[in-house]
Amino acid sequence: MLVRDFIEDSLYNPNYGYFSKQATIFDWDERPVDFSVVRDSVEFDAVVTKRYAAYEAERQLWHTPTELFKPWYGEAIAQCLVSEYLLKYFPYEDFIIYEIGAGNGTLAMNILDFLHRHYPSVYDRTRYTIIEISENLVQKQRQKLRRSHPGVQVVHQSIFHWGTREPAPCFFLAMEVVDNFAHDVIRYDLDTLQPYQGYVTIDSKGEFDTMYTQLNDPLISSFIELRQKLGHPLPISPLFRNLPILRRLYRNLPFAANLSREEYIPTRLLNLLRTLRDHFPRHRLLLSDFSSLSDTIPGVNAPVVQTRVQNTMVACETILVHQGAFDIFFPTNFERLRDMYEYVLSQPSTESARIHQPYVSLDPIPDRSTPLASSVQSVTLGADFFSSHQSPSLNRRNPLDGVSSASGLPVGERMSSVFKHAEFLETYADLSRTVLRNGENPMLDFYKNVKFLF
Ligand SMILES: C[S@@+](CC[C@H](N)C(=O)[O-])C[C@H]1O[C@@H](n2cnc3c(N)ncnc32)[C@H](O)[C@@H]1O
Repeated sequence: MLVRDFIEDSLYNPNYGYFSKQATIFDWDERPVDFSVVRDSVEFDAVVTKRYAAYEAERQLWHTPTELFKPWYGEAIAQCLVSEYLLKYFPYEDFIIYEIGAGNGTLAMNILDFLHRHYPSVYDRTRYTIIEISENLVQKQRQKLRRSHPGVQVVHQSIFHWGTREPAPCFFLAMEVVDNFAHDVIRYDLDTLQPYQGYVTIDSKGEFDTMYTQLNDPLISSFIELRQKLGHPLPISPLFRNLPILRRLYRNLPFAANLSREEYIPTRLLNLLRTLRDHFPRHRLLLSDFSSLSDTIPGVNAPVVQTRVQNTMVACETILVHQGAFDIFFPTNFERLRDMYEYVLSQPSTESARIHQPYVSLDPIPDRSTPLASSVQSVTLGADFFSSHQSPSLNRRNPLDGVSSASGLPVGERMSSVFKHAEFLETYADLSRTVLRNGENPMLDFYKNVKFLF
């Protein structure tokens, strides 16, 4: 199977996938931390560690800024969205928010509480929809939100299955979600610079291996085409790229590799951008995630592959590990993401139906009635559990929509901009709420490897 199929199977298979079985998100107790009584960041770390101990039995655990700094982090997000809404849409349009991958439902709760308290007339016009892949977390979200905000709709679905069109202006939140989106692996022939696509193979003894073939997957091909259009360089040194003689010399060295290093390319992220274009034509995206990671496996743009052993996270060196037992997550190059996003939004969506059929790697026009049309046999087990049905639509967002921002953040000609975590929070958060006794502010100082696209 293609590497993205393997990753997706490992993470999302309904029978044994990591999201279905293992994932738990660290949840403080309901009372927020009183940061003003915490001495310094060392003591704050100790508080986090102590609360972690309660989760000893869990195999996998995330701790996200939403949870660590609740409700203040969620309120900063709310402030950002409501400023934009008031400037551009109120009172003519409802305040429509979609959130994918809502975890424990904490962000939704904090945003809606904030609106209810500070902007009641906006709250009355708010429609909040969660799109969540994990059944466990869907239950948790419904339970958490039911009493205070019964109007929230929680849809148990992968965003890659989303098929409903939202014609109205809306905000689309993806906080700490895209890092788990599957990637493909490509390598370049060092002689010809032709790209090859990676597969994971498994033999009769259950041993994994990788192999490479010429490019024939439409999604990988379209990613490579897009990156060429955007002028994003290949991960091969310019000298090597531009001097065939140098490449030939190198290739003649004994034991020289014939393929470049593995490069992980965000093919599912490209699917997300197309879903946004086709189904949320007037959306405004707010996306946050890791821009860099340590302890990654070897390769370019490579992920962290880790699991919890006796209460300690252990990172390993390969993605070829027991499916479902490991978290696999990637850094996002936000500057490239922004370029891709803007380009995709500026294109009509005619080709989307073809490209969005993710597992039909060898057949550009998939036959849904033939389960084996997919490159992953296990996909048939989960009744389509991770394929995206997309109907083509000719609608596109006006590229100029969203140029101006109520934010006060510097927004140039682009529709969207990239911000560092601290930069975003300095603009929108009530920072006084998370200051420690010695003046440190963990909400600003933690997550230095996180960025926002807005
Ligand atoms: C790391 S958690 C982040 C949770 C929350 N946003 C936060 O910041 O606390 C990732 C979330 O994304 C969900 N998720 C992952 N892939 C998804 C997909 N394809 N469609 C919808 N939800 C997805 C997971 O189940 C989980 O709720």
